[in-house]
Amino acid sequence: MKKYFVFLFSIVVIALSGFVQTPQINSEEDKLSARVDSVLSLMTLDEKIGQLNQLSFGIGWGPTIKVSVPDEYKQMIKEGKIGSFFNAIGAEFTYELQKVAVQESRLKIPLIFGLDVIHGFKTTFPIPLGEAATWQPELIEMSAHYQAIEAASAGIHWTFSPMVDIARDPRWGRIMEGSGEDPYLGSLMAAARVRGYQGDLTDLNIIACVKHYAGYGGAEGGRDYNTVDISERTFRDIYLPPFKAGVEAGVHTLMASFNEIGGIPASGSKYLLNDILREEWGFKGFVVSDWNSIGELVDHGFASDSKNAGEISLNAGLDMDMESRSYITHLKELVVEGKVKESVIDKSVKRILRIKFMLGLFDDPFRYCNKEREQKNIMTSDAKIASLDVAKRSFVLLKNDKNILPLKKDYKKIAVIGPLANNSIDPIGGWGGLGDSADVTTVLEGFIDYVDNKTEILYSEGCKIDDTSIKGFKDALNIAKESDVIILCVGESRDMSGEACSRSSLDLPAVQEELAKELLKTGKPIIVVLMNGRPLSINWLNDNADAILETWFAGTMAGDAIAKVLFGDYNPSGKLPVTFPRTVGQVPIYYNHKNTGRPGDLKDHYTSKYLDLPLTPLYPFGYGLSYTTFEYNDLNLSKNKITAEDSIVVSVKVENTGKYDGEEVVQLYVQDLVGSVTRPVKELKGFEKIMLKSGEEKSVDFIIHEKDLRFTGADMKFKSEPGLFKVYVGTNSVDVLENKFELVE
Ligand code: NOJ
Repeated sequence: MKKYFVFLFSIVVIALSGFVQTPQINSEEDKLSARVDSVLSLMTLDEKIGQLNQLSFGIGWGPTIKVSVPDEYKQMIKEGKIGSFFNAIGAEFTYELQKVAVQESRLKIPLIFGLDVIHGFKTTFPIPLGEAATWQPELIEMSAHYQAIEAASAGIHWTFSPMVDIARDPRWGRIMEGSGEDPYLGSLMAAARVRGYQGDLTDLNIIACVKHYAGYGGAEGGRDYNTVDISERTFRDIYLPPFKAGVEAGVHTLMASFNEIGGIPASGSKYLLNDILREEWGFKGFVVSDWNSIGELVDHGFASDSKNAGEISLNAGLDMDMESRSYITHLKELVVEGKVKESVIDKSVKRILRIKFMLGLFDDPFRYCNKEREQKNIMTSDAKIASLDVAKRSFVLLKNDKNILPLKKDYKKIAVIGPLANNSIDPIGGWGGLGDSADVTTVLEGFIDYVDNKTEILYSEGCKIDDTSIKGFKDALNIAKESDVIILCVGESRDMSGEACSRSSLDLPAVQEELAKELLKTGKPIIVVLMNGRPLSINWLNDNADAILETWFAGTMAGDAIAKVLFGDYNPSGKLPVTFPRTVGQVPIYYNHKNTGRPGDLKDHYTSKYLDLPLTPLYPFGYGLSYTTFEYNDLNLSKNKITAEDSIVVSVKVENTGKYDGEEVVQLYVQDLVGSVTRPVKELKGFEKIMLKSGEEKSVDFIIHEKDLRFTGADMKFKSEPGLFKVYVGTNSVDVLENKFELVE
């Protein structure tokens, strides 16, 4: 270690003594770039290329905790051929790897360790789609902060999160990793997560990676990795805003996506990686490819071979190659042949070194490798409390007939039934990091723990999630018959959503609905607890169950959170961040659609609709009930006209008219009635989550500025256009009060 500091000191001395041309040092950024330049000036071309190479640890993908470094990797690190590893985990293990880099390589440049910390390292929080359902960015910032503490304590510097892809198609399994369909909510969540992970870059923070840049969620047919072809306008107004928000929040890295968009694969797109990202948005960090997404330019038919792919991607502005080995294998030759300029490589190297400096790794490469800290900081009670809190707030009450919920505490017998009832693996959700089923509370455990000895909890699995056997029905029916109420836990398994997990059906898998139908015949009330990573088409449940609670995959504390919410210790306050269709045939269906020239009208044949479906989704965007009721009144505007210089205050009165205290997400939507291009029927422009005691009324104010009304117009400029606007405020995107104003020049 001492040797390392001596070495660094000598670099700085060299830099300051004029050996390297350094600019006038007048800001932190200048100092940083002087340090970066001083290192760069000492590097050979091979060493520079090595910095651009990232490998996954171990064979295949998935995290590895090992303490001996395989010879092949050791040799590559010594030769400066690796800039970053991912999937290498643990204070001890990362220490071993880092030691080779900073003690045995010529320039002693530290490695940066990445990992997919998507909704938790070991303490898992709800999946990101569930977190988005809280509509509480500050809470999600806190969730990311806890995830960062655990990961940083286990030697990780960098998470490949947040995933900010807008998704309008629930067949796409990766919808679970994002914040749903709306660019405004998605942008707030993106920025919150970036802030939560990165904080002030202390040694308990990790750098974030906004991904997948860009358009990945627009995959045709919802099939993962599929072609994306969306208009430039929709791309800019719907898909790009969360990326921009992440950049504005200071994210240090982005990941280029697998997909092509408009014929150009994102990982080879100069337009995306340079023109928009760096020139328009001023992004200063670095971009990593997705796994082999450089190599896949060949499969796209965009590059002739791996070498050509490397040339295209590097020249486009893709700095780090995850796993394709195209850069490490071909870049040198490409420089010799004049196809890639060394100065372009230098730019990428500098971007990566800059982040390594910012993380403090040049000052102390072992900053994150502290075994004691690791033991102390993982699965702390604080993290578990935070996870429980986020879980409770992420649940969305979809139905509650005759106020069957909250559950009465004097039930004698409660039947907890279903393949997800005593299941401790699936609540972890996809991309669960090191989440361990041994740490997860199941719904059954949550119930047993919650009730006193006057209530008996009976359990039966009933059926499997994805198996057509109905053998277990009998047992389930038997316990249902002797119980006062049925808690039916159904949905998907964790591996039915996430990467490469597209589904063509949104129905409950296998025989779960049949189980529900049999249980209904007992005449006992049925409370459905849903676990799933995407919107499901649950028409039968909606028509027949007494209550439905959407719990997504709620993480480590799932069972506790579900029991507490069902018994009313916490009154549900989540709202859907994504539309739930009636059938897969309605997809894509999203609230901010266009009106069309023939808006759907069931009474008029020649209008935009399906012959065999209502016009509406099953549950609209922003929907979610509470154990109490809220009434909206007096939607007033401070004036009827605004200019670019001023603003309008929109105020509404919200009253808790039910008998429970509760939280409500008051939602503000705007509609631009006439534009130089057609405009969505509604766009979310603001929301506030408020707490109201039973009987209490509050006035909620929103401010609308001219800048909130901007969009990409006919001239492709992002600006507002004068004219009439409607304002809607309500409890979801459909049940709203309305008013209007005019934007004048
Ligand atoms: C592929 C996924 O698309 C990406 O989200 C992930 O970060 C990388 N693999 C690394 O695991």
